[in-house]
Amino acid sequence: MGVGIVVRRAEPEDYEGVWRTFQDESAYSGTLQPPFASREVWRKRLAEMPEGDFMLVALVDGQVVGNAGLHAAGKSPRRAHAMHLGMAVRQEWQGKGVGTALMRALTTLADGWLNVFRIELTVYTDNERALALYRKFGFVVEGTHKSYALRGGRYVDSHSMARVKPKTPPV
Ligand SMILES: CC(C)(COP(=O)(O)OP(=O)(O)OC[C@H]1O[C@@H](n2cnc3c(N)ncnc32)[C@H](O)[C@@H]1OP(=O)(O)O)[C@@H](O)C(=O)NCCC(=O)NCCS
Repeated sequence: MGVGIVVRRAEPEDYEGVWRTFQDESAYSGTLQPPFASREVWRKRLAEMPEGDFMLVALVDGQVVGNAGLHAAGKSPRRAHAMHLGMAVRQEWQGKGVGTALMRALTTLADGWLNVFRIELTVYTDNERALALYRKFGFVVEGTHKSYALRGGRYVDSHSMARVKPKTPPV
């Protein structure tokens, strides 16, 4: 973990820090979040996190500088082994190891404690930093969606990536 980066479970009172992260275009444009992030939307989201979902925050000097979450991939029991991953790092902290610290914590949690067999995500095909991070943690591209989302007036392609849990060794 990078020097000075603390990762812990997101608490309802972290909403302001998460909202701040999504204020910046370089953060929301890499995700499906719209511009003009709402404090109230984030307050509710963190206060009413669905059971089974897991959200972590990264802090530097006590300030929230990034977040990453595992969310149910669907309601069917036949998809209970899969979770969707989403994450964002505050603009001035991007490229400084925060995403790596969050991803290390989330994959350790998913593999060693939650038994998540498959972690899925979508990432825009031109998001080189995110692709590098995900590949580093064992995610592979499974397919590409054409014109997947609208981003600043243009349709952008995205990759579907997934990481299947490494084999769990016996004691
Ligand atoms: C994508 C994101 C989460 C990555 O987190 P981060 O803290 O910036 O990433 P890190 O600093 O931990 O770096 C991750 C890796 O990418 C590499 N990297 C950094 N910039 C890069 C670039 N422009 N091109 C290719 N690789 C790059 C780093 O070298 C590092 O790999 P290494 O440890 O092997 O050297 C973050 O940049 C972000 O929030 N971006 C905006 C929102 C977003 O795109 N979210 C993801 C949605 S799928």
